[in-house]
Amino acid sequence: MERLDKILASQGTLSRKEVKEMIRKGRIQLNGTVIKDSSVKVDENKDSVTVDGTEITLKRHIYIMLNKPQGVVSASDSDKDETVVDLVPDELYRKGLFPAGRLDKDTTGFVLITDDGDFAHRILSPKNHIFKTYIAGLQHELSDDDIKSLENGITLGDGTVLKEAKVQVIEGDKPYVRIMICEGKYHQVKRMFAATGNKVVSLHRVRMGKLELDNTLKPGECREITPEELKLVTEK
Ligand code: URA
Repeated sequence: MERLDKILASQGTLSRKEVKEMIRKGRIQLNGTVIKDSSVKVDENKDSVTVDGTEITLKRHIYIMLNKPQGVVSASDSDKDETVVDLVPDELYRKGLFPAGRLDKDTTGFVLITDDGDFAHRILSPKNHIFKTYIAGLQHELSDDDIKSLENGITLGDGTVLKEAKVQVIEGDKPYVRIMICEGKYHQVKRMFAATGNKVVSLHRVRMGKLELDNTLKPGECREITPEELKLVTEK
């Protein structure tokens, strides 16, 4: 249960003061009854709330899947660059959105945007072993020894020892690999391959936990993640 004015104000466009004013004018109904008290508590899963007769969705948090294009930064705001949050359409926008985990400016693919700090912490903490999957285009083929050292937890040039990764070579004319990691260190995938004397020439995130990036989303497009899909994100 949460205060109605707090929930409504957290949805985006209205301030808490404006919500109070609407309640005072009798414009908001809870389960068919006009409410007068702005501190009334509601159950987001059961209660029906209408504003001027139109039912509104009560959701404490929102979870959005974006297919990030190149050239966009993984931040909430920036003075010089377009951000992943700038790509969220008005109907999904609300205050406090941020990307749960960063992709480099030139990396493409799955970015999860939310206003739920606890959830973001849960999926990003290396302790929880939620694997993020990338398709990396490489300059050279990987040797079996390279794969072994990546899978055992490679040591980066600066001495950082990484947790184990899962690596799968994708058959084809060009060297492409599918790599799964559960940490999110700065430029991690690029630095991992650099430590094997290789170079990442393209990087695309395709999966978080067990949730695949929706391949109908064009670069720059987003959509809300369903509750069933959200559970897949935290699956190991
Ligand atoms: N690893 C990188 O090097 N870059 C990314 O954007 C994500 C993981």
